[in-house]
Amino acid sequence: MSKKILLSGVKPTGQAHIGNYFGAMKQFLDLQNSGDYQCYFMIADYHGLNLIQNAADMKNLINELTLDFLAIGLDPKKSIIFKQSDVSAHTELAWIFDTIVTMPYLMRAHAYKDAEAKNKELNVGTFNYPVLMAADILLYSTDVVPVGADQKQHVEYARDIAEKFNFTFCGITKDSSNTEKTTFKIPEPLILNNVATVPGIDGRKMSKSYNNTIPLFATREQITKAVMSIVTDSGSDIPANVYAIHKLFKTEAELKPLYEASKGKYKALKDALIEDIDAFIKPIRERREQLAKDSVIVAKTLSDGAKQANKVAQVKLEQAKIAIGVN
Ligand code: TYM
Repeated sequence: MSKKILLSGVKPTGQAHIGNYFGAMKQFLDLQNSGDYQCYFMIADYHGLNLIQNAADMKNLINELTLDFLAIGLDPKKSIIFKQSDVSAHTELAWIFDTIVTMPYLMRAHAYKDAEAKNKELNVGTFNYPVLMAADILLYSTDVVPVGADQKQHVEYARDIAEKFNFTFCGITKDSSNTEKTTFKIPEPLILNNVATVPGIDGRKMSKSYNNTIPLFATREQITKAVMSIVTDSGSDIPANVYAIHKLFKTEAELKPLYEASKGKYKALKDALIEDIDAFIKPIRERREQLAKDSVIVAKTLSDGAKQANKVAQVKLEQAKIAIGVN
């Protein structure tokens, strides 16, 4: 039986954090290693360009994120690891989609509504973000998209856009069984309940933009500093924010005796959390340090990945061009 297709992406906009890891990247790794999927892991640099508008920073962040992917165990021999800007079919297909997506529909996107509510000036790239992301997903006939809860709406946009294209240009309705003429496969999001939204050190969603992260490759000092700044609500035996992060590293059964024995002792519980985070990060941090010494590994990974991704993406783009009548 042929393998299912999995695609996901991460923006190179800052240090990856444990929210990225447990919410999405750990699933990338587990599903890659299950052997059941043909995986595509993408560095979403054109999405990142909405935020990072300096060439040296962009270059550096792409390099760092590629090393992160490799250090956690994403393997170019098993998966296709590439960057979005190397496959021009993404922006080309996004334009085609632009012509069938309406403005009011995009105005319902959370990112747009947030910016509106804060009276922020919004560039067209941010407004159009879901359309490019739909192209990312649909070009590869993706079955599953492992992401955190904050990306759920974007995957729904990709599903709607695929359906609208299939209807407009191929005459396929939602429940039609005619798959032969269908251009785009309808993808499913894969969101794990217990890690859908990993909290940060202040209890809100862990996010680069809230400055409440624990970096995925943090040093012991950085881990200590972050854990010591976890906001603790005095008055309860169990500090909720400490426990919520601790649960990522140990099972609730493993944590129970510790939290029973150290009721109200926040310092002892934070010390235990530092140990557990460091035990998890140390091996991947060391692996990353080794990989960083290899001067060609990033360039080689991305150029091999680009070749493979382009091959697949070009075929789908051609199919879309035939459907719209421009081939
Ligand atoms: P990005 O770069 O913001 O985040 C990468 C992945 O990490 C997840 N994530 C979290 N999960 C749980 N808890 C958190 N606190 C947390 N913070 C981040 C995100 O949900 C995401 O899965 N738009 C995407 C990048 C993208 C993409 C794609 C993803 C571009 N094209 C195509 C999938 C398919 C983004 O901004 O992710």
